[in-house]
Amino acid sequence: MDEDRKAIKFLLSNNYIVSPNSKTVFRNHSDPMALAKKFIETFSTDIKCDEFTLTKLINNTNQSPTPNYKVNIQPPISRKIPTIKKKYTINTKIDDLTDLHNYEPKFSIIQEPILSDNLVGDLNDMVGYFQNRYKKLSNILKRRADLSNFHKINEVKKEQNNISVIGMLSEKTINSENSAQLILEDPHNEKILEVIVSDPILVEQATQIMLDSVICVKGNVNPKGMFFATHIILPDIPSKPISSQNYADETVHVAFLSDIHVGSKGFLDKPMDKFIDFLNGKGENLHLQKLGKNTKYVMFSGDVVDGVGIYPGQLDELAMDSIHDQYDAFGSFLERIPEDVQMVVIPGNHDMVRSAEPQPKIPERYAPTLSKMENVHLLPNPSQVSLHGVNTLLYHCTSLPDMINNIPGMQIDKPIEVMINMLKARHLAPMWGSKTPLATEPEDHLVIDPIPDIFHGGHVHINGYGKYKGVQIVNSGTMQAQTSFQKSLNIDPTPGQVTLLNLKTRIPSQLDFM
Ligand SMILES: [Fe+2]
Ligand SMILES: [Fe+2]
Repeated sequence: MDEDRKAIKFLLSNNYIVSPNSKTVFRNHSDPMALAKKFIETFSTDIKCDEFTLTKLINNTNQSPTPNYKVNIQPPISRKIPTIKKKYTINTKIDDLTDLHNYEPKFSIIQEPILSDNLVGDLNDMVGYFQNRYKKLSNILKRRADLSNFHKINEVKKEQNNISVIGMLSEKTINSENSAQLILEDPHNEKILEVIVSDPILVEQATQIMLDSVICVKGNVNPKGMFFATHIILPDIPSKPISSQNYADETVHVAFLSDIHVGSKGFLDKPMDKFIDFLNGKGENLHLQKLGKNTKYVMFSGDVVDGVGIYPGQLDELAMDSIHDQYDAFGSFLERIPEDVQMVVIPGNHDMVRSAEPQPKIPERYAPTLSKMENVHLLPNPSQVSLHGVNTLLYHCTSLPDMINNIPGMQIDKPIEVMINMLKARHLAPMWGSKTPLATEPEDHLVIDPIPDIFHGGHVHINGYGKYKGVQIVNSGTMQAQTSFQKSLNIDPTPGQVTLLNLKTRIPSQLDFM
């Protein structure tokens, strides 16, 4: 692909609107990709990338003054998926790790879905669910300053130019790299819109969008009533300047774990023990000891036990075949963690709750030990909490395989890339009818709103972290050895690795308890 087209594709993949008249500027520039990156560093997605803005940016760059409309003072994308060469990387200086005398946790629940007890799951429930998804996401799209001239699908008429239509993507046909067709639906009426995509860059963009996502298309309608797309826009998250992001007012750390799988023969108790020793200030050197005492929050993003009857033949792989014993054993680990450490536990697909998302919290009857602990907060999947003022979204990420199977280029060992796609769609599991079961609740709790500061997931057992437009993303590893299922798929898990985040600086550290 030519360098100018690569640069435009890069902007589109970051959800910028690119005007056709910008193509000449990119074609004539000596380094189109550097120009695109400069554009992203300088402007939010609300600013259209056109000839005028690009020329101004080039002139300003040459003269070096900072434009007064600069809103994003850090690069919106900085993905760092670490390769672990040494046992740990601590990015908080030892002198900054104070003992937190008279420490008071600052913990609150921001969002905890209230789930229906009596869902029928019939057609009416399903229509209501999708209408709510459409309403929530179309409101997000309508707030974007770069979109206007909105038309409902049933208002689209012949010979209209530069109109914006919001719809749910119900069908997608990619014919070639120059040709695609999208079918958009509005769940409030039966009208559909057939969208013709003929620009290779937009076709490429269309391949990245999951079915049932709510998107906006901009375009023109010809005299025969055919809609030709000029832009495809996702709800996405806006670039947030550092000044408007949330940080703790003191140095305090959060540790991210998931997929502990207590009860499995493959559960690794040694790294779990070492992690708990670390939290008790018994790390192998002073830096680790001080960091452990400064870690006052622990997040568990699901699959804390292996469960019973989760997949055929699981009994052969269980060390404990009672779900009560599994939760008791997990609870015994948490009881050894200092009482001033606040812990959040959400369920995953192995936990003893319904598999349809959102999933309710782990019930007291299965986990009485956990329920009694005042510093353990059992919450639904997904939930959002505030940790020292930093908004943290926990989601088990059961939808990761669906997204990997449906978006070209996504890989199971790069979960952060997939989680970025969730943020772009502003939805945790867009696709209906695939492997991720969704409950037809009256409200779609899987829409990502409000925008978190931290997005924590699990499920794939491969640790990683990265950043997207100011949101810190963490996918935890596991405390389980490679399963026979993972072996058959050539998946190498990363047991024992734990990511920590300094809530004052939002800089991660990486520990390895294997
Ligand atoms: Fe798991
Ligand atoms: Fe899982």
